[in-house]
Amino acid sequence: MTCLLLRGRLLSFHRAPESLTDTASYLYEEDGGLLIEDGRIVKVGTYRDVKAFAPDTVEEVDHRPHLILPGLIDTHVHFPQMQVIASYAANLLEWLNTYTFPEECRFVETAHAARIATHFYDEFLRQGTTTAVAYCSVHKTSADAFFAEAMRRNMLMVGGKVMMDRNAPQGLLDTAQLGYDETRAVIEEWHGKGRNHVAITPRFAITSTPEQMSAAQALAQEFPDLHIQTHLSENHDEIRYTCELYPEATDYTDIYARYGLLGKKTLLGHAIHLSEREADVLADTGSVAVHCPTSNLFLGSGLFPLKALARRQKPVRIGVATDIGGGSSYSMLKTLDEAYKIQQLLGERLNPLDSFYHMTRGNAEALSLADRIGTLEEGTDADLVVLDAAATPAMKLRMETINTLPEELFLLQTLGDDRSVVETYVAGRAMKNVSGE
Ligand code: GUN
Ligand code: ZN
Repeated sequence: MTCLLLRGRLLSFHRAPESLTDTASYLYEEDGGLLIEDGRIVKVGTYRDVKAFAPDTVEEVDHRPHLILPGLIDTHVHFPQMQVIASYAANLLEWLNTYTFPEECRFVETAHAARIATHFYDEFLRQGTTTAVAYCSVHKTSADAFFAEAMRRNMLMVGGKVMMDRNAPQGLLDTAQLGYDETRAVIEEWHGKGRNHVAITPRFAITSTPEQMSAAQALAQEFPDLHIQTHLSENHDEIRYTCELYPEATDYTDIYARYGLLGKKTLLGHAIHLSEREADVLADTGSVAVHCPTSNLFLGSGLFPLKALARRQKPVRIGVATDIGGGSSYSMLKTLDEAYKIQQLLGERLNPLDSFYHMTRGNAEALSLADRIGTLEEGTDADLVVLDAAATPAMKLRMETINTLPEELFLLQTLGDDRSVVETYVAGRAMKNVSGE
């Protein structure tokens, strides 16, 4: 049995904070101890109490004065887009057709998919992200590479072979039947293996025929516990074209509703330009709108009304995500920094407690996985990040004038990035600088 005792400043959320002074919404232990056995957190509390509980032989790592948080969670990324990030395009559809679709064609090759998978996990671990929800490419080879590498590192990952059978290059198309068969094969080979979760992944309504949407519906009925991920209402031209392709639907959201694809495990990337009716449907079905702030700014897609959706009479569940490679940063700190600025432009406040809740427990709840990840609660998986708010000279200087935890978190979010990540633990193992190569 492996046993590890971490010492540091612990921070973990019990629920969404209602305000900056809502200290009951989180656990903060100034001199905290975290005992890990066989990849799980078995004891959390003051260092003194946890040390007294731990076996004499326990290995100790002292992370003081740094913060120890649950590993960060990213609820929407594209695994085959690492070499798409920073592509110069006017808007979503131009960006997809010019750069993204040609790049994804390369993932038919096993060796290429395996090489990028290594880089993908190296980069996420450098950024303190321990769980991500990913779109692979249309090729089963890409999903195989994605899940094999996750297993090698014992990471909890959610991913899916993309289903797409129209409006893309030939090398990126399956068919309704092939999309069904290969998704089923990926589920059978990978779901529940290691910590892997397979998601049913019709890319979006533009690239799926009605026949393929029915195939996705059949999968959702056969595997009701699986996540479903797709894109919704990201860009005005996209919305117009989508509604032309499905004229019988009331609006974009109604397309997914008609094919039985909405529900508590459904993650809808972007969901920026929703009508009140559509927001009601998401709230009624428990579907999650995934905010991708750096991508929405980078592609000029729009300003996601996070606060307005969360405080509706019928609140919409919300996740936050990088959306690599439409997104412009792998860092969840930078992602929430941009989310903050978007709320500023909308005349709303996103406070730093709220931001750190979203990166951790909030995203775990969005995935219905808060019983395993996203907190420091006893019995959960020991996926952790250790953060240093004085990691650069400029941060160190600013830290001299900081007195409270929320101020420190806001500094981390505003100036922090991978340099602030001191260590990343996956199921109790230090992994930040362990390259897969
Ligand atoms: N809509 C359909 N595919 C994509 C994609 O790869 N990225 C983004 N941002 N939006 C999409
Ligand atoms: Zn996306």
